[in-house]
Amino acid sequence: MSPHIFLILFGLTIVRLCCSFPLEDEQPATQPKHHQNWRRQEMMDNNGLYWLEWWVTAKKIHFRITVNTQGFVGLGFSRKTGHMAGADMVLLWVDDRTGEPNALDCYGSFSHPHLAPMRDDTQNYQVISGSQNGTHTEVEISRQIETCDPYDMPINGDTIKVLWSFGDTDPIHGNLKGHGRNRGVKPLHLLSPLFEKSAAILQPTTGKRETHKWDISMQNVTIESSMDTLYWCKIVRAPVLNSKQHIVGYEALLTRFGKSHQPLVHHMTLFECSTKSYPGADSSSWDVWSKSTGTECNSNLLTPRDWDSCATPVAVWSIGSTGQFLPPHVGIPMGGQSGAKYYMLEVHYDNPNGLHAVDHSGFRIHYTHHLRPNDAGIMISGVSVSDTQLIPPGQKLYRNVGICGPSCSNVMFPSDGIKIISGTLHSHRAGRKMSLRHVRAGKELERIIEDENFDYNYQQVRQLANETVVLPGDYIITDCAYETTNRKRPTFGGYSTKQEMCLSFITYYPKIDLAGCYSMTPVREFVETFGVMQFYSLSMTDVENLFLYNGNLLDYIPNTIYAKTKKSRANMTAEDILYEESLLNQLLISDPVEFHDRTFLSHLNQLPWSEPLFTKRVEHAMINGKHMTFCRISNESITIPSEIIRYPNFTTFVKPPSTCPYHLFIDNAPLISSAPQLVDDLTLWVYLQVIVVCLLGAP
Ligand SMILES: *[C@@H]1O[C@H](CO)[C@@H](O)[C@H](O)[C@H]1NC(C)=O
Ligand SMILES: *[C@@H]1O[C@H](CO)[C@@H](O)[C@H](O)[C@H]1NC(C)=O
Ligand SMILES: *[C@@H]1O[C@H](CO)[C@@H](O)[C@H](O)[C@H]1NC(C)=O
Ligand SMILES: *[C@@H]1O[C@H](CO)[C@@H](O)[C@H](O)[C@H]1NC(C)=O
Ligand SMILES: *[C@@H]1O[C@H](CO)[C@@H](O)[C@H](O)[C@H]1NC(C)=O
Ligand SMILES: *[C@@H]1O[C@H](CO)[C@@H](O)[C@H](O)[C@H]1NC(C)=O
Repeated sequence: MSPHIFLILFGLTIVRLCCSFPLEDEQPATQPKHHQNWRRQEMMDNNGLYWLEWWVTAKKIHFRITVNTQGFVGLGFSRKTGHMAGADMVLLWVDDRTGEPNALDCYGSFSHPHLAPMRDDTQNYQVISGSQNGTHTEVEISRQIETCDPYDMPINGDTIKVLWSFGDTDPIHGNLKGHGRNRGVKPLHLLSPLFEKSAAILQPTTGKRETHKWDISMQNVTIESSMDTLYWCKIVRAPVLNSKQHIVGYEALLTRFGKSHQPLVHHMTLFECSTKSYPGADSSSWDVWSKSTGTECNSNLLTPRDWDSCATPVAVWSIGSTGQFLPPHVGIPMGGQSGAKYYMLEVHYDNPNGLHAVDHSGFRIHYTHHLRPNDAGIMISGVSVSDTQLIPPGQKLYRNVGICGPSCSNVMFPSDGIKIISGTLHSHRAGRKMSLRHVRAGKELERIIEDENFDYNYQQVRQLANETVVLPGDYIITDCAYETTNRKRPTFGGYSTKQEMCLSFITYYPKIDLAGCYSMTPVREFVETFGVMQFYSLSMTDVENLFLYNGNLLDYIPNTIYAKTKKSRANMTAEDILYEESLLNQLLISDPVEFHDRTFLSHLNQLPWSEPLFTKRVEHAMINGKHMTFCRISNESITIPSEIIRYPNFTTFVKPPSTCPYHLFIDNAPLISSAPQLVDDLTLWVYLQVIVVCLLGAP
């Protein structure tokens, strides 16, 4: 194909996809893209009765709500609880007699949650149009993204809990009974575009579906009721593809269990295995592995060492996500001469309720032979999963940071940089705020992703409205803040959802040989921060190796001079078992004498964590101190050694100040509870009250 034809085809690509992304200026493939004029649509309930469509223009956000009712429709926004109390709400209906559409701006009182919420003084929602027919009501409204009304929530990039509701009759008829089913709450990123599957799987030039599906799933993985956490890994053989293809997107295939119909999968990743890097390596063993149902990941005894080469992610899914579909100018390569022959599926099962289950979850990969202009890749950044990530107990917000710095970006990034398309921020139950920060030449640039309202249950991929260019020499920093007010002991980095992670999964182009770029507090620094100089039987170098290579203590000290686990597991909680079995609980302190014969873990448990000055000092020391960086390369002919660096000095990015004379949204009131955000009966009661009061105040 001549380059000209290719360009024309690419031009058509953009035109044909205009349903989700209207015409963009055609740009050379190397220019980062701006995705203006996107539109999104979500089904809010499970039955297709309530659809929300929205888009952004200049300073306004527009909503089109289409609901299977001739009665009233409610839409609300809440930052924290997902409850009506404190929420910004709008009540919509089309008058049965006049056919006039109506919108009434309301809010739920936070300071008096038992009093009925109120009609706003200022009406900030404008009705653009509205109508109803025999079955549906459809209303289009708009409002300023920031109305400057303290009773309206400013819409921003954070996770927003969107409340929805509807009833059978118009409010003016007085009968406001809704059905229990007809309300709910859904977290959404209202300001992020999202590339739709429907557009991604169509061949743009023909409008036909010319993608193929490749399903990769676990086979009969048994999760015992005693397993709180299980990481299962399975090798799969790639489909035989003689020419290179592009992955255009992927979605999760989930096995669901129990009454709540929830998957046990918390997060899963498909990795490419670089088997080709072992010339003469016995490919027959990969074949044997690919026929097995898999094994526990990271198990020194069970997992073959070769599986370590399965390190470059090609698909990542976390709880609450719908997968990812890529914009028309990029695709993740697979197949052909240089394509990976084997992949590894890693699934993290989270089983807090102790179910016994047999699981078949995995990915559906959509790929095409219509190659797109750029090869995209996925890399992992953040804090390396390790016991040296620590969050003290009793903290309202405590930060950890993971750094990807020049030691990696200078060597690996092309001179005009990589362009980030999307990212997923990943932490566990204590995660409250997360951001992906970007530092160049001593100055922080705009946050690549920022969520001040991180929802552990909604780890949806975030497509960037503007692709971000990261140049050689830049730093990217994953910044995580955790809340542990109800915890009594420190939380450490680890694989269980009761432990923590601080990671970003970044989709970018052009693809480079990079699987991950992350950091951790160096072991020696970590130990010394807490005043410990020496352990029994092990040099500090041994201890470092233990941490870094996921080592087995018995390889180092084949005798019994380490703390043994004594308690019976039967009567222990999952947290207790994690603690008992922690590496930190097996290191016995020999120096200094005052901590003598304590395990390092019991020493950490005894520190004065309730002293804010102490925890602030630790937090500051860990962030601003030393970081050991890792540049995980997926091409074995390149190695970049780990490096110990200091946190970079930079001036923090400051958002332009709000143009509002004052800034007070009522939902910023203190968080009452971080319990699961399901709308309960009290909320329904409150909701009915809202309507009544709104009406009393109505003209
Ligand atoms: C009623 O309106 C809905 C939503 O606008 C539309 O999908 C449906 O086809 C309409 N029904 C009829 C009978 O026109
Ligand atoms: C999974 O288990 C079912 C029921 O025991 C069995 O019929 C099926 O063959 C198993 N599948 C695989 C791939 O092992
Ligand atoms: C994206 O870039 C355009 C053009 O530079 C700018 O006008 C717009 O505000 C940016 N959007 C976001 C969300 O940063
Ligand atoms: C251990 O089990 C006993 C009896 O089942 C129970 O009363 C006790 O509270 C348990 N102890 C702990 C620490 O869970
Ligand atoms: C690995 O890197 C080397 C050196 O940059 C390069 O020549 C080679 O093509 C790379 N291999 C693959 C499979 O990309
Ligand atoms: C940051 O600045 C301090 C004081 O100016 C200096 O000691 C430190 O080395 C700097 N750190 C880096 C990473 O440049």
